Amino acid sequence: MKTNPFSYGAAVKGENFYDRKKDCKRIVDTLAGGNNMALYAPRRFGKTSLVFKAIEQLERQGFICVYFDFMPVFSPESFIRFYAKSLATKQSNLQKFAKTFVSIVKNVRPVLSFGKDGTPEFGVDFAGTAVDETTISQLLDLPEQMAKNDKRALMFFDEFQDVEKLKDIHFEELLRSKIQQQHQRVNYLFFGSKTHIMQAMFNDKKRAFYNAASQMTIGYLPEKDTMTFLQQNFSKKGIRLDESMVRYIIAATANVPHYIQLLAAEIWQSTESNTDITREIVDESILQVLTLKNDYHMEMFDRQSKSKKLLLLALCAGGKNIFSEAYRRANNLPNAATLQRAVSGLTNDGVIDRMDSEYFISDPFFKLFLKDLS
Ligand SMILES: Nc1ncnc2c1ncn2[C@@H]1O[C@H](COP(=O)(O)OP(=O)(O)OP(=O)(O)O)[C@@H](O)[C@H]1O
Ligand SMILES: [Mg+2]
Repeated sequence: MKTNPFSYGAAVKGENFYDRKKDCKRIVDTLAGGNNMALYAPRRFGKTSLVFKAIEQLERQGFICVYFDFMPVFSPESFIRFYAKSLATKQSNLQKFAKTFVSIVKNVRPVLSFGKDGTPEFGVDFAGTAVDETTISQLLDLPEQMAKNDKRALMFFDEFQDVEKLKDIHFEELLRSKIQQQHQRVNYLFFGSKTHIMQAMFNDKKRAFYNAASQMTIGYLPEKDTMTFLQQNFSKKGIRLDESMVRYIIAATANVPHYIQLLAAEIWQSTESNTDITREIVDESILQVLTLKNDYHMEMFDRQSKSKKLLLLALCAGGKNIFSEAYRRANNLPNAATLQRAVSGLTNDGVIDRMDSEYFISDPFFKLFLKDLS
């Protein structure tokens, strides 16, 4: 059996990644030029994949690149643990790194051990001492030490809006002051999916990161490139799909890269070789995905308040001017203040999102589920 050429769920690389050349160049040029950058886009648009692509190119240019995801961070201790590990992955000599670590981070001990497959692993031991701002501050200085005059370090902070979880130790302010005053050989890319939170961080005069980075966003993948990607990959199994079918797939998945690949993978799996794709085949695959996700969707809908439910159902038909009197009346929505709370709640949970001034349901399959309900 031929392996499924479509992949979704994790960041994609190599042949599975298409387009975004200009976006990638902009990231590479900005960071290589010694500036910081903030990148935001809705969920599942391909931010992490794009950044991995940029990292490949920047490493080839000789930069030390460290990727760090804030999502799993839940406390200052966990930040230290994960951050130290991320830095260590870029070291060829862990003994040497442990020495540098000890000389800079005072209250935390490095621990070297061996993983199951025998590879050396770097960890930390807090030895009973409480973690405070000083320890975090010292740790944040490590990349500056790892960098050398001719080899700058670049830090890639994914889901950066989650630094919110470290507000008790004033992480945002601390990092900003490092960037402004102390770090000469390190640049940062901050990226994440909670666009409104990220934008507030970088555009609000009262926030630490105000004006701290050049900003960019990524949009949809161009239709003609999706066309080529789908047609070429399906042809590996002799499956043909014409332009109208590609457009049908794009429409069903709201053109979100993750869901294009998810639906394509499903169609690939359930279609015999040498078939012409029809609407019925696509519909069948959509139904298959919806059936598998039914309990999840049901539970997701069930747990929402009444005003959130009404808003979700309204968004199935469109999300422009949702605070207008006409929209609210047509959809039986509550007053503007209650609606605003529903919008904020659903946005923070990642259930809905906004592009330009239009709101939409993030997961197109959840939208199809909701359409069936209404
Ligand atoms: N340039 C691309 N070419 C092809 N597929 C892509 C591309 N970018 C993203 N995808 C698809 O979207 C999926 C999600 O990509 P990725 O994890 O990079 O997105 P993300 O924006 O970081 O998502 P999240 O919001 O969950 O962090 C990938 O697994 C892949 O299926
Ligand atoms: Mg991501």
